[in-house]
Amino acid sequence: MRRSVVAGNWKMYGSGSMIEGLVTALAASVATDACDVIVSPPFPYLSLVQQLAKGTGIGLAGQNCSAFEPGAHTGEVAAAMLADIGCQWVILGHSERRQAGETDSEVAAKAAAARQAGLQPILCVGETLEQRQSGDAVAVVTAQLEALVVDLAAGDMIAYEPVWAIGTGETATPEQAQEMHSEIRAFLAKHQPALAEDTRLLYGGSVKADNAAALFAEQDIDGGLVGGASLQADDFAAIVRAAP
Ligand code: PGA
Repeated sequence: MRRSVVAGNWKMYGSGSMIEGLVTALAASVATDACDVIVSPPFPYLSLVQQLAKGTGIGLAGQNCSAFEPGAHTGEVAAAMLADIGCQWVILGHSERRQAGETDSEVAAKAAAARQAGLQPILCVGETLEQRQSGDAVAVVTAQLEALVVDLAAGDMIAYEPVWAIGTGETATPEQAQEMHSEIRAFLAKHQPALAEDTRLLYGGSVKADNAAALFAEQDIDGGLVGGASLQADDFAAIVRAAP
């Protein structure tokens, strides 16, 4: 039985006061008993959120980490530092980072550093609209997974986020999402049979309060990675309530 999970990716949004209000509202409105509820603020606010969320059951994820050990890497944040301030997870390979040049092998190296530090990576994969329209969606996602599957570990999550559905209001239908999730699980069954059944697969891309339940009802969708709607406490709480 896979425990469901709803993770909020706050991207590069927020301010101290906005985040204080958001976490306070979430603490009062989300139930964390049946579902892992995770928020991922920008680095400067991680400690603030950690303090505000203490005792609520809301977990913390970084949005990225360095592939390197702590050392002379100006501007980088080590996985060990995220663990040190209370993160349990880290989002890696988000399409916004891949579009900025992050490669499959960099994502794999960051995932290794994260595991080494005791973090559980949320590994993002997904195709562009062009790739979907040319019939290459499964091949693209499979190629991204090839780079990650060798070192996949228990506790890692995979987030399928079709690039064309991120921040566009365009959601994959539950059928489209399930189709890819079942491809991903079949891929895991082939390459990491011991992990295939237990690895949690999240869907991301314009998940909203009104479409979450239908997406989460699908067999291989274990929860969501939520961007825009995670910045509104009411919407995020409604998505958590819809968790499988
Ligand atoms: P969105 O973002 O929910 O705003 O589409 C999802 C994501 O980027 O993780």
